[in-house]
Amino acid sequence: APSLAALAAAKGIVFGMALTRDQARDAPPLAAIALAQSAMLVPGNELKWVRAEPGLGRFALDDADALVDLADANGLSTRGHTLVWHEALPAWMETGLSRAEMSTALSRHIGTLCRRYAGRMHSWDVVNEAIEPSGAEAGGLRRTPFLAALGEDYIARAFALAAEADPDAILTLNEYDLERDTDWQARRRAATLDLLNRLVRQRVPIRALGIQGHLDPAKGPFNPEVFRSFIRAVASLGLSVFITELDITDRTFPADVAARDRAAAEETRAYLAAALAEPSVRLVVTWGISDANSWVDGNPGTRRTDGLASRPHLYDAAFRPKPLRGAVAEAF
Ligand code: XIL
Repeated sequence: APSLAALAAAKGIVFGMALTRDQARDAPPLAAIALAQSAMLVPGNELKWVRAEPGLGRFALDDADALVDLADANGLSTRGHTLVWHEALPAWMETGLSRAEMSTALSRHIGTLCRRYAGRMHSWDVVNEAIEPSGAEAGGLRRTPFLAALGEDYIARAFALAAEADPDAILTLNEYDLERDTDWQARRRAATLDLLNRLVRQRVPIRALGIQGHLDPAKGPFNPEVFRSFIRAVASLGLSVFITELDITDRTFPADVAARDRAAAEETRAYLAAALAEPSVRLVVTWGISDANSWVDGNPGTRRTDGLASRPHLYDAAFRPKPLRGAVAEAF
C-alpha cells in the first residue's frame, strides 16, 4: 500500500510526523513508521528553548542534530519547532529580562539555531502561540517574557533574525484553537489575522501560518465554511497555510474503542477535507504517531477524565494503523 507521504505528494502536499529523540530510541517501531510513512520529520521537543539553550549562551543541540541527521539520511525534510515560545523556557528566561538582555538573548538564540541548520530546514516555527488564549484582550497578544521585554516588536524581530540566518526556510507563525465555530475562537481568528496583517504590512519575512490542528470537538462545533474562509483570508495576504500538529483529543468521545475510533476518524476527515480544499494548504504534519507515546495523556487539559488512555493518533499502542490513518489517507 502507498505511504501517506506518497498519497500526499500525488496531490502536491508534504506529509510529515513529529518524533522525539526519546521515542526514536525507546520505541524503534515509531521511527520505522515515521521514516516509511512521511516525507518530513519534526523534532517534537529538541529545538525548544530549554532543550536547545539550557544555559544562557550554552547550547545543547545533540538531540536535535540526531533527528535532523536521521531525516537527512533517509531523504526526509525537517521543520524547525520552535524558536520563540512562552513554554519550555529555561528559568533564567522567565525572570524579567531587561529590554537589552532580551534583545541579546533573542538574537543569539535565533542566530545560533538558524545558522546551524541553514539550508536544511524546510521551515521554522519562528513564533509559537503568540495569540492571547481567549483572544479577548486588547491587541490579542499573549503576555510572555518576550512581549514584556520588547513589546509586540519581538515578533517582527524574531522573523528578521531567522531570515538573516537562514534565508531559505519558510518562516512560519504557528497558532492553535483556530478551527471551531465559537465566539472565542472567532476572536482568536480575528486576532491572528490582525497580527498577520500588521506583519505583512511591515514587510516582515513571514511566509506561512501554521495551524496546529490539535482537534478537540469538546471545544465546539466544526463548521467547514468558517474554517475555509479563515484560510482564504490568510492566503489573501500572500501566505501559505500549514497544518502543523494534527491529532485529536477524544476526551468527550464514548469509551467504546471502536466507536471512539470512528468518531475520531470522522471528525478528522471533515477537518482535512475542509483544509485541503484550499489550495494554500500544502503541508500536513501529525503531532505524534502512536497512542502508546502520546503527549495528550501527559496534559491535564487534553487527557480523558475516566482514566482510559487517549487514542489521538494514526497508529494504536501496538503500532497498528487505526481508522484515523485511513481517514488521513483518504483525505489526500
Ligand atoms: C508538546 C510535546 O509533544 C510534549 O512532549 C511536551 O511535554 C509539551 O509540548 N503545541 C505545541 C507543541 O506547539 O510544542 C506541544 O508539544 C503541543 C502543543
